[in-house]
Amino acid sequence: MIFRQLYDSVSGTYSYLLASRRGGEALILDPVLEKVDRYLQLVRELDLKLVKAVDTHLHADHITGLGALRDRTHCITVMGEQTKADVVSMRLADGDKLTVEGLALDVIYTPGHTDDSYSFIMPDRVFTGDTLLIRGTGRTDFQNGDPRQQYESIFGRLLKLPDSTLVYPAHDYKGDTVSTIGEEKAYNPRLQVKSVDEYVTLMNNLNLSNPKMMDVAVPANMKIGMAQETIAKRGWALDAKQAAGMIGRADVALIDLRESSEREHHGAIRTSLHVPYPTLQENIRTGGMLAEMFRTSHPKIVFYCAFGERSAMAVQAAQDAGITTACHIQGGIDAWKKAGEPLTR
Ligand SMILES: [Fe+2]
Repeated sequence: MIFRQLYDSVSGTYSYLLASRRGGEALILDPVLEKVDRYLQLVRELDLKLVKAVDTHLHADHITGLGALRDRTHCITVMGEQTKADVVSMRLADGDKLTVEGLALDVIYTPGHTDDSYSFIMPDRVFTGDTLLIRGTGRTDFQNGDPRQQYESIFGRLLKLPDSTLVYPAHDYKGDTVSTIGEEKAYNPRLQVKSVDEYVTLMNNLNLSNPKMMDVAVPANMKIGMAQETIAKRGWALDAKQAAGMIGRADVALIDLRESSEREHHGAIRTSLHVPYPTLQENIRTGGMLAEMFRTSHPKIVFYCAFGERSAMAVQAAQDAGITTACHIQGGIDAWKKAGEPLTR
C-alpha cells in the first residue's frame, strides 16, 4: 500500500494520500487548499490517479482542497451525508465503504466535534478526523458539536477497535504523528473520565478561543460545489422533469455514473445504463462504448449521478471528445427525488 501523511504547518492539519499500488487509483483525506500543488506533484511522482478527495468533516481552521482538486483532476469530492457543504459529488453514511481500486475503508459516523464528523477504518489503522486526537479530542463547542455525542463516538465506537489499531488524526499541534487505540485509552487525559457527564463537564469548561481562520474557512468550505450553471448556460442541462419525459425513448441513452453501492442504496432511473464515473474516459474515447453508441445511432446521451457534480464533469469531457449530444440531469438523483420521480432497484 502507498500511504503518505502530509502536514500543513499553518493549520496543523494532517492529510493522507492512500493507494493500493503505484500506477493505481488514489484518495486523499482532508486536503488543505494551500497544499494542493504539493499533493498533485506527489500524485504525479508516484504515478497515481487521484479519484477521490474526502473531508472527514467541515473544517473551521483551514480551507479545504476539495474544490481545487476536483477542478484540477476531475476527482470525486466526498463528505458525510450530514454535511452543510453545498454540493459534494458523493455523500457517505455510517456503514458505507469508501473505496478506490484495491482499498475499501469502513465508514463510521462519529459526531461530536461537529455533526458531520466521520472516521474511516482500515484493518490496521483508523483515520479519526478531529473526533479523537493524539492525547486530546476535538473541541465540541461550535459547528453543532456535542460532547455527549462525542463521548459515544469515542467510547462506543473508536475505542472498541483493537488496541493495536493505529490512530491517524486530522490534526496535531505538538508534532505527534501517530498513536494507537490502546495508547489513547491509557494516556489520553480527556479519556480518563468515569462517566459521560464527567466528559461533558470537562469539554464544556475548556474555554477555547475560536480558530483564527474560522470566519473565512467555514463559509468557504460550505461553498465547494462546482458551477453547474456553466454547463446549463451551454445548453447541456436538463431538469428532472425534462429528463423524466425522455425515459423509454429509443433516441435517448440515460447513463448512471454512480457507484454500485449508491445505486443499491438509492435506486436508479429505469432503463439507464451503468457506467461508473472512473470508467468514463475509456468509454468516451474513440472505440469506447459511449463513443461507438454515439457514432452509430447518435442518441441523446443523458448523464446523471447523485448531485450533478460527476455528471457535469462527464458532460464537459464527452463534449470535448466530440459527443455533441451529451447533457446531464442538473442536481442528479437528489433533484430527481425532489421532483417526485420514481426510482427502481
Ligand atoms: Fe475540525
